[in-house]
Amino acid sequence: MLAMARSCAMIGLDGALIEVEVDIANGLTAFVIVGLPDAAVNEAKERVKAAIKNSGCLFPFKHITINLAPADIRKEGPAYDLPIAAGILSASGQINPSEELQNALFLGELSLDGTVRHTNGILPMVALAREKQVKAVFVPAVDAVEATLIEGVTVYPVGTLGQLIAHLNEVKRIEPYMRDPHLLDNAKEAVYLQDMSSVRGQEHVKRALEVAASGGHNILMSGPPGSGKTLLARTMPSILPRMLIQEALDVTKIYSVSGMLPVDVPLILQRPFRAPHHTTSHAGLVGGGRIPRPGEISLAHRGVLFLDELPEFGQNVLEVLRQPLEDKLVTISRAQGTITYPANFMLVASMNPCPCGYYGDPVRECSCSAMAIARYQKRISGPLLDRIDIHVEVPRVDYEKLADKRKVEDSATVRRRVQDARERQLQRFTGTKLTCNAEMGPAEVRDFCQVDPSAEKLLKAAMQQLHLSARAFHRVLKLARSIADLAESDTIAANHVAEAIQYRPRMGA
Ligand SMILES: Nc1ncnc2c1ncn2[C@@H]1O[C@H](COP(=O)(O)OP(=O)(O)OP(=O)(O)O)[C@@H](O)[C@H]1O
Ligand SMILES: [Mg+2]
Repeated sequence: MLAMARSCAMIGLDGALIEVEVDIANGLTAFVIVGLPDAAVNEAKERVKAAIKNSGCLFPFKHITINLAPADIRKEGPAYDLPIAAGILSASGQINPSEELQNALFLGELSLDGTVRHTNGILPMVALAREKQVKAVFVPAVDAVEATLIEGVTVYPVGTLGQLIAHLNEVKRIEPYMRDPHLLDNAKEAVYLQDMSSVRGQEHVKRALEVAASGGHNILMSGPPGSGKTLLARTMPSILPRMLIQEALDVTKIYSVSGMLPVDVPLILQRPFRAPHHTTSHAGLVGGGRIPRPGEISLAHRGVLFLDELPEFGQNVLEVLRQPLEDKLVTISRAQGTITYPANFMLVASMNPCPCGYYGDPVRECSCSAMAIARYQKRISGPLLDRIDIHVEVPRVDYEKLADKRKVEDSATVRRRVQDARERQLQRFTGTKLTCNAEMGPAEVRDFCQVDPSAEKLLKAAMQQLHLSARAFHRVLKLARSIADLAESDTIAANHVAEAIQYRPRMGA
């Protein structure tokens, strides 16, 4: 007997429909899976066998062949357990043939007792179902909320294999999981670990962070030890603008395939903040590995990638950041072909100005040789520095500032300004794919960055006296656009340009 059930394979964040064909023939007892299965798919045999028996059905001791088609896509992970089990039960006549079995998508890992377990990547797989006009999906009951993030597909939450059998045999139907109408509400106030009001002084750094958050600009903070760079970077999540629903869905997909979606958080509504240590491996940072997973730069998609102590990251690690910083995605080559993950993050980095940390400090003397300083700063290449729009120095804070008891502006106030500025940008970019100023290319800079005559004069003078490159010129304009947005101004004025110019890099490029 022959039976077929459908499932889904993930290639990066994109899914592909997979047909699970099951053939049961008389002859020597055997159980083979063909069609490029990996180890986890091959182990499905043992799980499926036990789950079928423990669900009160018979496992046919015949020659069973499972074909996962198309055969040229590598099948990874345990999500095929459920369609394989359904296929075997159908081919052995224990599940009545039905249109539902043929047309729906089955996703889920089985445990030996027949329970359907949490499975990674449910959200992007259900998204594929909708794209391919599949009407219904059977998913692990624990992942049902995640599945309902996609509208227009009927979601059946499956607790056990037994429930699925009863459903398909029309003994006891599973109730479709109803979508919570408030699922996509993102108005809830989030809790943040670090508030800006806990940082004393450093007003100009806070301002630079505000500009960075408004326009999505990369920022590098440089200063002596203990001046508050790490602390300041950690306040960043508390001032970021809200995510759009589409952004939230994209981020959630990445966490879903990484298996990092918390059980009680079906949709990630807060922009991610990732702070990988400098000992993180290459694959850990950019993604890849034997079972491919998104790296830190993709986990930071639509949020912040914080690289503390930037020069400590290996030079080759920093160089691979150049492509994602430019293209907003990362391509990973593997023996089975390439996969692409989105990586549209905002880079926040910190560093000391020299190995001892006190170069340029007015109080403590720097003990490094000129050579050592040059070598240290060279660890970060010019092209990388050139992709960082805002460079800001974080000097030591003096006692008066630290001991000052006056109230400091809190993150909620800053966040409101950032949100307003971001909304002006979204309005301006209606009809384009852009979401913030930092994403503008040269053509868009020409279209969207009108400067008034006094600003034009200043720009011209700056170009000549500071020998700004063409890229630096565009960077100044994009930054000035964000500063003008914060000031609720439609045109860019001279003071906006002046502020943008002072954020230009001091070293390297
Ligand atoms: N401006 C500030 N206001 C309040 N506390 C501060 C400030 N700057 C530093 N601190 C205190 O000093 C501690 C050390 O700061 P932080 O770790 O951010 O310094 P850093 O610049 O990252 O130093 P390093 O270069 O050694 O990493 C903070 O945890 C905080 O308690
Ligand atoms: Mg630090």
